[in-house]
Amino acid sequence: MQKKVILVTGGSSGIGKAICQYLTAKGYKVYGTSRKAQQDLGFPILAIDVTDDQSVKAGIEELLKKEGCIDVLVNNAGIGMMGAVEDSIPKDSLKVFETNVFGPLRAMQAVLPTMRAQKSGLIINVGSIAGYMGLPYRGIYSATKASLGMITEALRMELRPYGVKACVLDPGDYSTSIAQHRQVSIPEQSPYKSSVLALEKMIDEDVSSSSDPLEVALLIEKIIHTPEPKVRYMSGKFKQKLSVLVKHWIGGKFFENILVKHYKM
Ligand SMILES: NC(=O)c1ccc[n+]([C@@H]2O[C@H](COP(=O)([O-])OP(=O)(O)OC[C@H]3O[C@@H](n4cnc5c(N)ncnc54)[C@H](OP(=O)(O)O)[C@@H]3O)[C@@H](O)[C@H]2O)c1
Repeated sequence: MQKKVILVTGGSSGIGKAICQYLTAKGYKVYGTSRKAQQDLGFPILAIDVTDDQSVKAGIEELLKKEGCIDVLVNNAGIGMMGAVEDSIPKDSLKVFETNVFGPLRAMQAVLPTMRAQKSGLIINVGSIAGYMGLPYRGIYSATKASLGMITEALRMELRPYGVKACVLDPGDYSTSIAQHRQVSIPEQSPYKSSVLALEKMIDEDVSSSSDPLEVALLIEKIIHTPEPKVRYMSGKFKQKLSVLVKHWIGGKFFENILVKHYKM
């Protein structure tokens, strides 16, 4: 049987790299992407910047030319953002939306004509547990991940006649380089400065002591083998997954107070 062809955006680091390495070792034909030249990571890397229409189009055309088909797109490339809503100027916020929302949209639009023609294919959009709740000082990041989730929910129904599947995978905290790469918007005179910096320190400690991204790779493989994938999958620590259920069940001020207490605000 022909190996499944899988494209993972953002294969140079963190969760994407773990997915690429794991699936390559399992015998799939995996392509990662990066904006920078990479040394040999054990799988091919396409030069793609997901914020650039032409770059996404050209990278995916290159893959299709080589392989003739694409079975799975994992929209993983993304960046974090930290800053109070009042300080998050549109220019900075747009950069995060360009990467986390319009980036996946560009990649989906580039692979879908081929997937529809094949009458098969799977798109896995990497969201975040942060997309279920407006996290303090990460409101814009939460908004990008919530947006990606909504787009995926709509897409699933639109793709029903074409035999193409889509779902969201929402991770909790994983030990990656996301903290080093995040967009930080804290103007010098910001009244929120000390609170944002304190929260950033707390979050960075959480991320560096969090789970191994290999866990996400294992779940991706499970989804690939699921004939009818669920709308959403979650991975992460029990407490993080529970927070989504608590918000769903109780929500409102009660949930808000839990977050305020947790983040020592
Ligand atoms: N780590 C967590 O705790 C966590 C939790 C929930 C969700 N997530 C999500 O998981 C995904 C992966 O994050 P990570 O934690 O693995 O972060 P990471 O270690 O910083 O890796 C980010 C990846 O995204 C790529 N990327 C960033 N901007 C890009 C652009 N404009 N074009 C193409 N690629 C771009 C980077 O590639 P280059 O820089 O080489 O181009 C890199 O490979 C993100 O969508 C993130 O929001 C992470």
